[in-house]
Amino acid sequence: MNRPTHGGNLQWAATLAGCEPHAILDFSASINPLGLPSSAIAAIQSQVASLTSYPDPSYHSLRQAIGQHHGIDADWILPGNGAAELITWACRDLATHCLETVLFTPAFNDYGRALRAFQATIYPCCLLDRLLGNDPDSASDDILNIPTDPSLLATLPNSHRRGVLLNNPHNPTGKLFDRAFVEALVTTFNWVVIDEAFMDFVPPDRHDQFSAVPWVERYPNLVVIRSLTKFYAMPGLRLGYAIAHPDRLRQWQQWRDPWSVNTLSAAVGEAVLQDTAYQQATHAWFAQAKPLLETGLRQQPGLRVLPSAANFFLVQSDRSVPALQQQLLQQHQILIRDCLSFPELGDRYFRVALRTVSENQKLLAALRDRLGS
Ligand SMILES: Cc1ncc(COP(=O)(O)O)c(C=O)c1O
Repeated sequence: MNRPTHGGNLQWAATLAGCEPHAILDFSASINPLGLPSSAIAAIQSQVASLTSYPDPSYHSLRQAIGQHHGIDADWILPGNGAAELITWACRDLATHCLETVLFTPAFNDYGRALRAFQATIYPCCLLDRLLGNDPDSASDDILNIPTDPSLLATLPNSHRRGVLLNNPHNPTGKLFDRAFVEALVTTFNWVVIDEAFMDFVPPDRHDQFSAVPWVERYPNLVVIRSLTKFYAMPGLRLGYAIAHPDRLRQWQQWRDPWSVNTLSAAVGEAVLQDTAYQQATHAWFAQAKPLLETGLRQQPGLRVLPSAANFFLVQSDRSVPALQQQLLQQHQILIRDCLSFPELGDRYFRVALRTVSENQKLLAALRDRLGS
């Protein structure tokens, strides 16, 4: 079986570990460990009888719920079959309207897939030193301060038809791009797509400072993509949404299958966005578990942990990660995410998701066992 390029491939891990997939403790996919909200399960149960009809192709009710959640008119919202589907249409737009699309690397693997599918010209801009905190200008906390003057932007393509695809918070480092930098992109590029798949984890008191959602109605060149996969622990259901100018979303609807979101996902989306108890429980877990895992990782010999605003940490290791990954699987049935699919990082980095406090303790104990602290 080939080495996976995404996290969460339990079949692959189980084959290596010699156990059943359900026995693997998965730190490779950054999914909320509180599990599927009970409101989601109730929504699924209530909709089973509706499976004999097609979903409403306008997703009116779901769009209303998402609109209410963000305080935005429902016309500016398009639900999709996971953020992945919407990234595909955003990349078709970028390929059609831009001579070049700037991709800050290391970047989530799927961006390249979607851009290449439409023959977009990719202009890679490597931010590795800044993201890793090796650049003297970049802060050592979880915010990436990119000075806009003298500007990184000046080094990017100067065409009036340039686009950019940005991930905030950034996967795999968990860094947040600061507001000034994002605003500089929105005001100087003619097409800006921001994937905020992990933004829901940013605590509410910081969220509005970093999310670009409040800007969408002001900047018609801006698209924000959100995912329900990670925060609501539903990678198997597939639900995400784009927030963008209604004309653009109408165009995407003409390109795609009319029923991209199935009935169960649509009902779940409506329910979980109103599930404030689950949202609060998630923020409480995050506030408790994150500093404990970060401190525990920092105490391990040979590891360097990057400050992260998201529900995962990128860790630099002084030894080869594929070997460590294999040992953790075979000895402890624990799966960490190697970073081989991020070519800029190579074999000395891994990413671990934040799980429950007791599961994180298991990871730390297994690492202690392997690394000898
Ligand atoms: C940065 C980023 N964006 C988007 C996605 C895809 O999310 P979804 O499951 O909603 O398609 C992922 C999944 O790993 C991701 O890491």
